[in-house]
Amino acid sequence: MRSVPLSLTLAAGLVFLVVAAGFTAVDSRAAHDPSPVGLPGFAGVQNLDVEALVDHRQGVMRAVSGHMAASAAILLDGAPFEDRISLHGTALAGLLTDIPDLFPEGSAHDESDARPEIWEDFGTFTDRGQDTMERAAAFGEATQGGNQAEMTQAFIALGDSCGACHDSFRF
Ligand code: HEC
Repeated sequence: MRSVPLSLTLAAGLVFLVVAAGFTAVDSRAAHDPSPVGLPGFAGVQNLDVEALVDHRQGVMRAVSGHMAASAAILLDGAPFEDRISLHGTALAGLLTDIPDLFPEGSAHDESDARPEIWEDFGTFTDRGQDTMERAAAFGEATQGGNQAEMTQAFIALGDSCGACHDSFRF
């Protein structure tokens, strides 16, 4: 890997400073935004764009869905791509690490299918997310081992957990 020239590093730092300053300015102007979202860990950027949050989590869910469909084709329908199953397993384990984190309080939106029950009962929502995370991690691990029966069992268990959350928390 080539090392990054110092001038480039400085320029990048400057751009960051300018962007950060811009954020602060927007932040103070957005004080009357009707749907501000306060995220712990985002100190200094109090108001986030809810639409961007919705686009992001729906994109993550669609990616999850794509990896599930590809895994099903390989494991259940015999698509000859066994050498790629660990790629899907690893991606699913990574994408499903912390679902509740994608749903900060105040991120309900017209274009979102998230039900208000998520924030009324965040404990149960978090439990469902935790359950899926554990099953995704188990599937990811099984795909490293490559045992067909173990992979299939872990995959089906993971698939079952999606509906368990959607039934209560998605329109
Ligand atoms: C802890 C709850 C939870 C779990 C577990 C969960 N989802 Fe979701 N999912 C949601 C919610 C809530 C939405 C609606 C998000 C929105 O529209 O803002 C959603 C949306 C989706 C969407 C629609 C995305 C779009 O384009 O609008 C797909 C597809 C999806 N989930 C697939 C899955 C799959 C596959 C799994 C299991 C591997 C899964 N989800 C696990 C809560 C969950």
